[in-house]
Amino acid sequence: MARLNEVIKIIGSALWFILPAYFANATPVVLGGGQPLDGGRCLDGRRIFGDGKTVRGFVAGIVAGTAIGVLQGIAKCSFSHYFSLGFLLALGALLGDLMGSFIKRRLGIERGGALPGLDQLGFVIIALLLASSVEVPSWQAIVAIFLITPALHLATNFIGYKLKLKSRPY
Ligand code: CTP
Ligand code: MG
Repeated sequence: MARLNEVIKIIGSALWFILPAYFANATPVVLGGGQPLDGGRCLDGRRIFGDGKTVRGFVAGIVAGTAIGVLQGIAKCSFSHYFSLGFLLALGALLGDLMGSFIKRRLGIERGGALPGLDQLGFVIIALLLASSVEVPSWQAIVAIFLITPALHLATNFIGYKLKLKSRPY
């Protein structure tokens, strides 16, 4: 029983920590679209990022993730700490997602195509790296983040597909 309580605590602290990255990653699905970040440009005959990475999605993701950090800061009476964390987690999530698309295009995977592993974890890895300049979560929390994120990512994408926000269920 004591063990179970510990596990629940770790999962709670992991989700609390990574929440801005989740919001930063999900918001573009709803608010994204329009001008692509790469301006339609190509590299070796393939798009740099592709039409799935837009300016509006990028900005909206950073604003949404940072806003979650601000709310966390208000809740914990520690504004500047959570503001910095929220911004860095959001920026990292968006950059990680962008890096994923860059790699997929180089591998010849078209926009919307899957690259299992990178699709679910790339954003969270870069988010944690950027945020590490402010705070590094416990190793148990990091393990929890790596175990929970792929499942949550697949589940939310499936919901997004059912809600017709996304054209593919993954
Ligand atoms: N999106 C956006 N801007 C971003 C990231 C995402 O507008 N910077 C929106 C796009 O409408 C995109 C959707 O969110 O189609 C889902 O994101 P994602 O699955 O990451 O993009 P894909 O379309 O699958 O493209 P890719 O193959 O490059 O991942
Ligand atoms: Mg995708």
